[in-house]
Amino acid sequence: MSETVLLVGGGGREHAIARVLDDSDTALYACAGNRNPGIARLADGFETLETTNTTAVVSYAEEVGATLAVVGPEGPLAAGVADALNDAGIYAFGPNADEARIETDKAYQRRFMREHGVPGCPDFETFDDMEAACEFIDDYDGDLAVKPAGLTGGKGVKVIGDQVTDEEAKEYLRDSDYDRVVLEERLVGEEFTVQALVANDQLRVTPAVQDHKRAYEGDEGPNTGGMGSYSDAGLELPFMTEEDYHEAVEVLEATVAALDDYRGILYGQFMLTADGVKVIEFNARFGDPEAMNTLPVLATDFLDVLVAAREGDDLPKLTFAPKATVCKYAVPDGYPTDPEAGAKVKISEENAGDAILFYASVDERDDGIYTTTSRSFAVVGLGESIADAEEIAEDALSVAGEEGLHMRHDIGTEALLQRRIDHVQELRN
Ligand code: AMP
Ligand code: GLY
Repeated sequence: MSETVLLVGGGGREHAIARVLDDSDTALYACAGNRNPGIARLADGFETLETTNTTAVVSYAEEVGATLAVVGPEGPLAAGVADALNDAGIYAFGPNADEARIETDKAYQRRFMREHGVPGCPDFETFDDMEAACEFIDDYDGDLAVKPAGLTGGKGVKVIGDQVTDEEAKEYLRDSDYDRVVLEERLVGEEFTVQALVANDQLRVTPAVQDHKRAYEGDEGPNTGGMGSYSDAGLELPFMTEEDYHEAVEVLEATVAALDDYRGILYGQFMLTADGVKVIEFNARFGDPEAMNTLPVLATDFLDVLVAAREGDDLPKLTFAPKATVCKYAVPDGYPTDPEAGAKVKISEENAGDAILFYASVDERDDGIYTTTSRSFAVVGLGESIADAEEIAEDALSVAGEEGLHMRHDIGTEALLQRRIDHVQELRN
């Protein structure tokens, strides 16, 4: 039976989801706050709507006769879009709002880990009173990461000893209007992501990916939603061992076991430290950019996973093309602090060469596609090695040019990879 899938969300991640569903026997409809031209071209219908408006999403799903839904971003999950779709009899692959707290409430997430003995939890305390949090900073022996409990698009965390001093962290807390913060042990090491597809108390893991949060080359500058990412032809990254990868998978397994019938993507962001693998955070969705590394190499039909999830069946075993991937985002000049919108996008699916082009927050007008104030588009190279994939991504970026755009050319380069490898070696000595 063919399925009708509603995709919620209009970023690069959702373009990657649309692209894999396009290969399946589906009618695809999409809705998002922005009209993503890449998704719109693949979909049988595209509706611009506020994706946190549960009524609007459900009525569009009903209008198109959706038999399944995939919710891409965290905003609609937090707003209860999955709950509302399920209530309307449309199976949503994505957790309900309560389960999504594993991402949307960092205080809940850390307490959950502690309560269920999930391995890899750093030392932490949660605070509702910012003065009490400041006192904790004064008394704590060592550096802390200061994390607002709620969603901040990856931009709210301040790491003492890395981005800020004790005094700056306290000032940040005093000037903020956060209701609750988590203060936790600063983790030192290399970050990586492992994402799992979860339903029916089963999980299927995907290859590790490394994202680059900092805006500028050499990991300088403010945190962003993610500037680009790479994965290798196998499950691990060049700076990790097989055991490190399995340690991360064990954390995901323990988390799924402790969660009550979680469904959707469970995204683990990990720090490989001198003391093993620690959890930076969980997300209740695919990563953006990481989805753009993972989905293009997924050889299993994604629709088969969705249908098995809905039917209560065993999830299919996942297979992946043995290819390395490098994803590089182009973002507007000044992003994330003072982004300047309105640059014309010169790259298209036709002139991207061997790279895959994924649109994110762009604006399609009669005379072309223009940047907005968020990440604009990403190019993804697939190759035998990370170096091959990097070259393909860079060739595509040269088509796009730099006018009005900023990108990190260092992502996936041999020099940066070597730094990661050296860093881990240093920690292990
Ligand atoms: P998050 O919003 O939790 O993903 O945090 C954003 C970024 O802050 C992460 O990608 C890390 O680079 C950094 N970060 C978060 N928690 C910690 C921690 N405990 N120690 C060091 N860095 C952290
Ligand atoms: N790449 C980080 C995130 O999606 O949150």
